[in-house]
Amino acid sequence: MTDMLPPLTPMPLDILLGRVANEWESRQRIFDLMKARVFRNGDGPDLSTEFLGRPIATPLGPAAGPHSQLAENIVLGYMAGARIFELKTVQILDELEIARPCIDAQTIGYNIEWSQELLVPQSLEEYVKAWMMIDILKKWEPTAELLGPVPGPHVFDMSVGYDLDGIRSKKVTGFINGLKDASRHIDALRPSIPEPFAKYRDMAFSNTISDTVTLSTFHGCPPDEIERITKYLLNECELDVIVKLNPTLLGENKVREILHDQLGYTDLRLIPQSFVDDLQFDRAVELISELRGFAEGLGRKFGIKLTNTMIVENHKQWMPEEQMYMSGPPLHALAISLLGELTKAMPKVLAVGNEGGDTQVSFSAGITKMNIADSVGLGLSPTTLCTDLLKPGGYGRIAPMLKQLVKDMDTVGAASLPDLIAQRSAAATEAGHESSITAHIADIFDPTVGEYYQAEFQAKLPKAIDNELQMWGCVACNFCVTVCPNDAVTRIATIDSLKDEIDGRQQYFILSELCNECGNCMTFCPELGDPAIVKPRLVTTQEKFDNTDGQVFLLERSDGDLSVTAKPGFEEHVGRLSALLKSDQGLPIRLDTIPSDAP
Ligand SMILES: Cc1cc2nc3c(=O)[nH]c(=O)nc-3n(C[C@H](O)[C@H](O)[C@H](O)COP(=O)(O)O)c2cc1C
Ligand code: SF4
Ligand code: SF4
Repeated sequence: MTDMLPPLTPMPLDILLGRVANEWESRQRIFDLMKARVFRNGDGPDLSTEFLGRPIATPLGPAAGPHSQLAENIVLGYMAGARIFELKTVQILDELEIARPCIDAQTIGYNIEWSQELLVPQSLEEYVKAWMMIDILKKWEPTAELLGPVPGPHVFDMSVGYDLDGIRSKKVTGFINGLKDASRHIDALRPSIPEPFAKYRDMAFSNTISDTVTLSTFHGCPPDEIERITKYLLNECELDVIVKLNPTLLGENKVREILHDQLGYTDLRLIPQSFVDDLQFDRAVELISELRGFAEGLGRKFGIKLTNTMIVENHKQWMPEEQMYMSGPPLHALAISLLGELTKAMPKVLAVGNEGGDTQVSFSAGITKMNIADSVGLGLSPTTLCTDLLKPGGYGRIAPMLKQLVKDMDTVGAASLPDLIAQRSAAATEAGHESSITAHIADIFDPTVGEYYQAEFQAKLPKAIDNELQMWGCVACNFCVTVCPNDAVTRIATIDSLKDEIDGRQQYFILSELCNECGNCMTFCPELGDPAIVKPRLVTTQEKFDNTDGQVFLLERSDGDLSVTAKPGFEEHVGRLSALLKSDQGLPIRLDTIPSDAP
């Protein structure tokens, strides 16, 4: 990893749409997503549900995190079947220096990120671009055909944190208002819609991109502050609100018992102070009741989300912070246990299982293909995820997850999600459980049925081979392409004229402006080395070229052709690189959208 902070540089709308058209023509892929991994809604049982009263066609989508940060990430999620997007958290401190690497999804999930890496106005523009691109791709013939006749409605849910003063600031207020009425931003972007999409420049995009918010209550956020912020968002911002809760609500003893004694994650070291600083269970119950009533009085909607990540000591020391945030399968066990405790403490309040309550419970904790039907079948809705999308397959894991849900619904003859929920409740009662929630808890902690949640099962490391990664050639497993949340890795088939010179069927390149050196591709690359640093790094601006060390190559448009410039010491690679970038598959970015070298 380099010492320099590599900020993300979002790509303008014309480059992004140009890339869609170019990739489709040259590779039949959309942002590297294969045709076969585009989800076609409506071919089976009805997967629709609602989010704070707004319809969504599937109950799945990215949770606030690396997959809901850049416009192309959100579009990728949509193509793969996501219809709910918890946008990456925006807060007043938008020039945070996040240490790198910041993601470790090698076994379960750990990270040291905590909000958008972009400036607040940049975040707003990313979300507006994503919103427009989704509407365009629903109409554009090649993608419309893949998505099918009923792609169905989707929701962008904004996420803000972490204190009232920050949320009230001009900067964050501008962001919230900008998503509630994006007409000005949409109109400003219309002229940059390039061919072959120019016919959509006058399209009637909905100006309300988001009028719901999930409040990210980060570790240590005082309960009174949570209450004040939620009331402010409901009352003054006129948003429907979900409050995202932390697993520390279970208390230190219960968390320790679950992680250490029941699941065997004895290497996870809890931080006693975090349980003292965070919201306490009894206060949370009071708060939920107070906020439900408050929202109802205003005619607004209120719900909760289980859960944010679990803060633990950084025992691995792979990422450079003292603490880290744990996610994935063990978090699923904590979040479902918390759901069990909350339903006991607040009977008939939550809209889950056969409780009969009306408070929506949105969910993000270790959702995977193997537990999506279990989770949605409890009434948890919608379900969002981060960790599983960081594994090989990436966004391409969403469609198989939805197909698994369809299969599980077909198996029990459920025609809709309410049918599945009723069926799961009835089956749980029949099997002698109090509810479908207690039945799922029993399964998770049964070492045979719930083996997947056990530390031993999750300890398996990604495959490794004893070979130093080189700039050219590798085993071409494609993992770096799919695990990258930003679609910053692209590949080009090795051309015949280079087959004797370089190894490998495919060559891999980093679109450096989109790479924030999160470390995820290094984790999964079976060879020894970091693809984000070792593979040729392509940049399109002189400034980025000047500020990046190593094997970085500047791409420019020169007299209608692609020109490639190398840093001193790397000139010998320019000929080979140019030949690959100009080959039939070639650079996914369109030449006419790359800056010209003319002064
Ligand atoms: C790399 C990473 C970054 C995240 N960033 C945020 C964030 O900005 N805001 C937030 O509320 N949650 C954030 N989360 C938490 C997720 O939204 C989610 O609640 C959590 O990871 C549990 O889901 P999972 O087990 O599917 O990962 C982040 C998680 C990861 C892994
Ligand atoms: S290329 Fe690798 S390091 Fe860069 S953003 Fe993608 S996964 Fe992270
Ligand atoms: S760089 Fe590593 S992860 Fe990427 S294709 Fe090559 S071997 Fe696989």
